Amino acid sequence: MKYKSILDAIGHTPIVKIPFDSDANIYAKLEYLNPGGSVKDRSALYMIEQAEKNGDLKPGGTIIDASSGNQGIAVAMIGAIKGYKVIITVAEKISTEKLKTLQAYGAEVVVCPVTMMIDDPENYHAQALALHAKTPNSFMPNQYFNINNRYAHYHSMGPELWEQSEGKITHFFAGAGTGGTVSGVGTYLKEKNPDIKVIAVDSNCSFRATKGHPRPYDVEGMGVDFDSEVLDYNIIDEFVEVSDAQAIEMLKILAHKHGLLVGPSSGAVAYAVEAYKSKLGEGDLAVFICGDSGRAYLSKDFYGQ
Ligand SMILES: Cc1ncc(COP(=O)(O)O)c(C=O)c1O
Repeated sequence: MKYKSILDAIGHTPIVKIPFDSDANIYAKLEYLNPGGSVKDRSALYMIEQAEKNGDLKPGGTIIDASSGNQGIAVAMIGAIKGYKVIITVAEKISTEKLKTLQAYGAEVVVCPVTMMIDDPENYHAQALALHAKTPNSFMPNQYFNINNRYAHYHSMGPELWEQSEGKITHFFAGAGTGGTVSGVGTYLKEKNPDIKVIAVDSNCSFRATKGHPRPYDVEGMGVDFDSEVLDYNIIDEFVEVSDAQAIEMLKILAHKHGLLVGPSSGAVAYAVEAYKSKLGEGDLAVFICGDSGRAYLSKDFYGQ
């Protein structure tokens, strides 16, 4: 493919059949092949371009957002091309690689303590809001509360998966952080075929999974810690909750056996596919999202020998 800009190279990622022991056809969608290295390139681009269209983001402006890393990296990459200053707040559990990647694109990074409650003023989301309030000519994509996050995936990955599977997809598995991916893609697919099952993968320690009593967890990007319109519960048929240990165990299998060097949220999603597998039958076509690359986590030593 030949593109005029790196922004046009966002999306169009392949699906690859993975020989899981199942009668169903199971495919991984390699979102880590996006130019910024994750599924978040899609949502960041859409939210930024909508803001440019409606005047919320003006030339010379600053983009500020809270991110587990990947949304920030996507914003930093897009900000670099479009000439915006970028400030990203992150929780201190972020991998060194993601932190350095943000800085490599020229973004300013504010590292915040890990807190589980959104209203804690130390929280990375609260700190981004505070920075936005005091920075003139700034725009906050606000991925947890911006409905365009969901629409990004509705317009981009939804049609892509429908075409790639030639309309045969029966099950869609995605990690839920903001819920934008699972809700946006899920909505599109169910409009095409209401029988398609949409499975959201969550951390077993998240705000949602613990019914409001979250515990710290290591998996980055995934985990429903905020309730917002972006996550559309009506679209989700089932949540599968996965522990850090289960996600990491699966990560190693994906790398050692299937040649997929992916991040912990992909390990969690693949674990959920394994856990769900007995419900898949011949003729089913399941797709699971590999949201980012394992190269962003090598310093965390997840992969063993
Ligand atoms: C690697 C990875 N997987 C999954 C997700 C969850 O995606 P969403 O926020 O669309 O629910 C994220 C979000 O940051 C991510 O970075």
